[in-house]
Amino acid sequence: MSKKTWRTHNPSGSRRVIVTKELPGDRWLQILTDADCKVEICTSPDILSTEEIKEAFGSRCDGAIGQLTEEWGEELFSALKAAGGKAYSNYAVGHNNVNVDAATKEGIPVGNTPGVLTETTAEMAVVLSFAAARRVVEADRFMRAGSFHGWLPTLFLGELFWRKTVGIIGAGRIGAAYARMMVEGHKMSLIYYDPYRNKALEDYVAAYGEFLKTRGEQPVSCGRAESADEVLREADLVSLHPVLDETTHHLINRERLSVMKDHAILVNTSRGPVIDEEALVAHCEKHPNFRVGLDVFEDEPAMKPGLAALDNVVVVPHIASATIWTREGMATLAAGNVAAILRGHPVWQEGDILPFLGDKPPKAAPSIVNAKELGIRIYAT
Ligand code: DGY
Repeated sequence: MSKKTWRTHNPSGSRRVIVTKELPGDRWLQILTDADCKVEICTSPDILSTEEIKEAFGSRCDGAIGQLTEEWGEELFSALKAAGGKAYSNYAVGHNNVNVDAATKEGIPVGNTPGVLTETTAEMAVVLSFAAARRVVEADRFMRAGSFHGWLPTLFLGELFWRKTVGIIGAGRIGAAYARMMVEGHKMSLIYYDPYRNKALEDYVAAYGEFLKTRGEQPVSCGRAESADEVLREADLVSLHPVLDETTHHLINRERLSVMKDHAILVNTSRGPVIDEEALVAHCEKHPNFRVGLDVFEDEPAMKPGLAALDNVVVVPHIASATIWTREGMATLAAGNVAAILRGHPVWQEGDILPFLGDKPPKAAPSIVNAKELGIRIYAT
């Protein structure tokens, strides 16, 4: 029997929705209340096991909101279906923890929360880039230890990004936002690798280059690489933004680390297993001027042995999307997905998700990743 505690919101609701973690803000609760849902929320910060989630479904559960720390696979979707479940939303844009095919097989729509994490996550990638390059955490520790005895020409020398080359692997929404921040803010040239061309990003950098020329400044450039290796070889700073799947698992391994520049900076805000963390530890031990910023970890929440001891690595606990606006927005979208499906609403297909955060949200599910497979009607504007 699970020891986790749950609280109930809107106990008189005729539909039952379970939510495996407390979510920030109130709006998401109102959305579910308006859809006549009784909402049961697990108040424990501990990760729920599959067994505990199944137990929470009980004999009747209309919908669920789950977390990226849980494995939503065949077992959970068939149990959800058996309890009468009709909707699931991940409280995340990434859904590598969800077996979407298994959900589709059970006829269960799977929601996610895109569009509200883009700038927030990109900003954290920027934070980690500078924290690693300018040795902020090491220097902070040094100050607090009372070791600062006066200005020195050689104290905590780091790396300058200005006019150097930034590389991104994965040029989707977040990768492109990060690239624009580094290109515009620090006049870096861009090299990117993505199986799909990002023409909008290329045009943006080209237009910025033209603008710089009108000011009598050197333009910046943008190149699409043929391979991830090319980015790793060329760039002074590399930020990882691919989705995690079998093609990107351990994308950064011993061989690929060895082609990177000795003074390069590597940042990961995507998913931990994109990097072979043991190989990273070994590389950082051998190359003290190679610096790393990590928001995500291969065996999250654990770090591989040796990582915590490295001064050239900055680590934060998967908080790239952790701003109030974003996390409340994610809750609004996740609740919106479940409520809309339970009410029989169509699915939104416009690129811009922000209307869902406004005063008159569309009567649609904001983002359902298997909408097409399930033949869910598309919202007509
Ligand atoms: C996501 O939504 O996929 C993020 O990793 C959460 O920060």
